Amino acid sequence: MVNKKMANYPKTIAIDGPAASGKSSIGQELADELGYLFLDTGLMYRAVTWAALNQNIEISNEKRVNEIAQQIKINIRPPSVKDDRQFDVFVDEQDVTWLIRGQMVNNNVSQVSAYAGVRKAMTIQQRIFGERGKIVMVGRDIGTVVLPDADLKIYLEASVEERARRRYKEIVEHGGSETYQEILDSMKRRDEIDSQRSLAPLKPAKDAIIISTDGKDRGQVIKEIYHFIKA
Ligand code: CDP
Repeated sequence: MVNKKMANYPKTIAIDGPAASGKSSIGQELADELGYLFLDTGLMYRAVTWAALNQNIEISNEKRVNEIAQQIKINIRPPSVKDDRQFDVFVDEQDVTWLIRGQMVNNNVSQVSAYAGVRKAMTIQQRIFGERGKIVMVGRDIGTVVLPDADLKIYLEASVEERARRRYKEIVEHGGSETYQEILDSMKRRDEIDSQRSLAPLKPAKDAIIISTDGKDRGQVIKEIYHFIKA
């Protein structure tokens, strides 16, 4: 994949979209093929939520949650354990890679992510990554807020039922016990909060390319994105 033509490829690629739209796996594969850095910003919001819950802080206590976001040391590194993880995620010295995927975090992360102090602290860190260039960054507000000058902006979408089916399959494969209905309900709730919040809501940037992933496998979507990378 790496050749001279790459000199003209976009250096910063923003991928946004709702839960389980395929952002993380597609973003990671693209970054690997292009030899770019990859940052999944959802992990950072999940880590803040986990830390607040772990310290028994009321999620409705915005001031305390904002303080956690300012103090927390989140470390995202290549995987050190072969258990299907895309990354190691550490909060301080604790490996929280799977803990941040738990139901309690799912149910609270959108409330945490709506707080101005949390968003400010995370956005500062994300932009520092972005400044390095040659990066694929995925999230909800990358093309609109974090990297508004990204060279290529992709917005992935799919029906909530299809996304819940994908997430259900992943959870079952990892021994989880949530039902399809629970996942669907929680995803609908998150979509609603994420897209209705006043700060950095989930929405495509004006100059984003919108790709529907309904009924498509990862390879098909990546092929479509390559078309725009090479254009
Ligand atoms: O993996 P999944 O698509 O379920 O979610 P995620 O990307 O890990 O993001 C978890 C939550 O973090 C989202 O529901 C948003 O509330 C929040 N988030 C955000 O507000 N801004 C981002 N750039 C990324 C995630």
